[in-house]
Amino acid sequence: MTDAAFFDRAAAEYDRSHRRHVPVSEEFYGAAVAAIPYGPDDSIRVLDLGAGTGLLSAMVAAKLPRSHVTLVDASVEMLRVARQRFSGEPGRFEYRVMDYAREPLPGAPPGDDRGYDVVVSALSIHHVADGDKRGLFGKVHNALVEGGIFVNADQTPGETPQADKNATLKAQLAWMEEAGFEEVVCVYENERFVVYGGRKARRDLSTERTDG
Ligand SMILES: C[S@@+](CC[C@H](N)C(=O)[O-])C[C@H]1O[C@@H](n2cnc3c(N)ncnc32)[C@H](O)[C@@H]1O
Repeated sequence: MTDAAFFDRAAAEYDRSHRRHVPVSEEFYGAAVAAIPYGPDDSIRVLDLGAGTGLLSAMVAAKLPRSHVTLVDASVEMLRVARQRFSGEPGRFEYRVMDYAREPLPGAPPGDDRGYDVVVSALSIHHVADGDKRGLFGKVHNALVEGGIFVNADQTPGETPQADKNATLKAQLAWMEEAGFEEVVCVYENERFVVYGGRKARRDLSTERTDG
């Protein structure tokens, strides 16, 4: 069964079983939301990779009531639950059924080609093979505006020894830097759950050559 087929079948029960599988959900997702350096007055564009039923998107949207959120997921049924969750605010949320590891990331809202201010993800990127993760971090970097940030709340392999876990997190932070992110930092770590992120650099216009 593909991941999409698995999550299609799990969608109806996903929210109910989430708490059981992620006992630290509140502080874990809370750490990801707290790492987003914007507030209620900011009209920003957010992309949620592997958004599922919209649990993280909902927390981000509550913190940033003027944001526009694009939810991407390979599972039609997970996004169906998300559409219901956000049905009271038509137009503010956009949905794309796609494999974000293999396909180009969607652009920011129609008529707005500036890119995203924030890309978030929760418990999704660990489904992606390591080789594809590295490529994905590059695509996320490209999809962001200058100064935009990427925050990933995810799990490192729980069944491997502690040293492997640390190596995996270390490797992911290194891939973030390799993709061009600055200020790469892990802001939360609790057993297998981690939240890390980084910022896309702003171009330093003062050092750029001008012709003429
Ligand atoms: C455990 S759920 C997490 C959902 C949500 N982010 C949350 O925190 O509740 C993982 C989600 O990632 C999605 N996913 C995994 N790999 C994906 C890929 N390559 N492209 C799109 N979605 C993917 C799955 O379909 C699933 O909905």
